[in-house]
Amino acid sequence: MATLLIIGASRGLGLEFVRQYAAAGWRVLATVRDPLSGRAASEAGAEIYVCDIGDPASIKRLAASLDGTPIDLLLHNAGIYGANPPFGEIDPADLIEVYRVNTVAPLLVAQAFAGHLVGPKLFAVLSSMMGSIADNSSGGSYAYRASKAALNMVIKTLSLDLAERGIVPVALSPGWVRTEMGGPAAPLSPTEAVSGLRAALGGVKAADSGSFIHVDGSRLPW
Ligand SMILES: NC(=O)c1ccc[n+]([C@@H]2O[C@H](COP(=O)([O-])OP(=O)(O)OC[C@H]3O[C@@H](n4cnc5c(N)ncnc54)[C@H](OP(=O)(O)O)[C@@H]3O)[C@@H](O)[C@H]2O)c1
Repeated sequence: MATLLIIGASRGLGLEFVRQYAAAGWRVLATVRDPLSGRAASEAGAEIYVCDIGDPASIKRLAASLDGTPIDLLLHNAGIYGANPPFGEIDPADLIEVYRVNTVAPLLVAQAFAGHLVGPKLFAVLSSMMGSIADNSSGGSYAYRASKAALNMVIKTLSLDLAERGIVPVALSPGWVRTEMGGPAAPLSPTEAVSGLRAALGGVKAADSGSFIHVDGSRLPW
């Protein structure tokens, strides 16, 4: 039985990943920040762990508690939109907080869990089209855009640094999805987005290491 560790599974896309991978017969290990928010993931079949990715010590504790547990797919889903005031009202603290959660934490997770990855050794992070420099035609959202663009660079760099260990890091774009972050106007349901991403992940090969993969399986420009 293949094992998924998903970081950030209380709601939204993370919870839907739990539901779909558990239904497909995977062993699912799922993290939440608040144990009380792990109920839905637990009911969907996941084993629940507590981790606040904004706290490096919490990431290390999680890795230690899973020491010796082989993981086939590590899916780093947790992320925040944060405060994104317009140009002229930028507060450095807003940018740093979003960067800490969206960019630094996934790198620390990769560092803490590289030794746990086995089998296909896939490390996937939820990035965003908003992190694509090539796709940016509307501006704004400095904190979120910069954090995901930097996350994309982290993934590309990990793909080079971890190649010898056979670990394949990829960045995923779920499209615009109806979650707390995406809001009610988004065109995709979590079920549709996660189905698309699971299909894309199922086809990832070593040659795809360091790529930016859209929900429809296409490759996105950085
Ligand atoms: N929805 C979209 O349209 C969209 C588009 C592009 C990319 N994405 C990306 O997809 C991922 C999931 O988004 P979503 O739409 O499902 O968002 P969401 O509904 O807001 O869920 C965010 C998840 O991240 C967790 N999280 C936030 N900060 C955390 C922290 N410090 N430690 C641990 N967990 C933390 C939340 O846990 P709590 O319940 O504890 O807050 C929650 O489980 C994010 O990385 C997001 O940037 C989403």
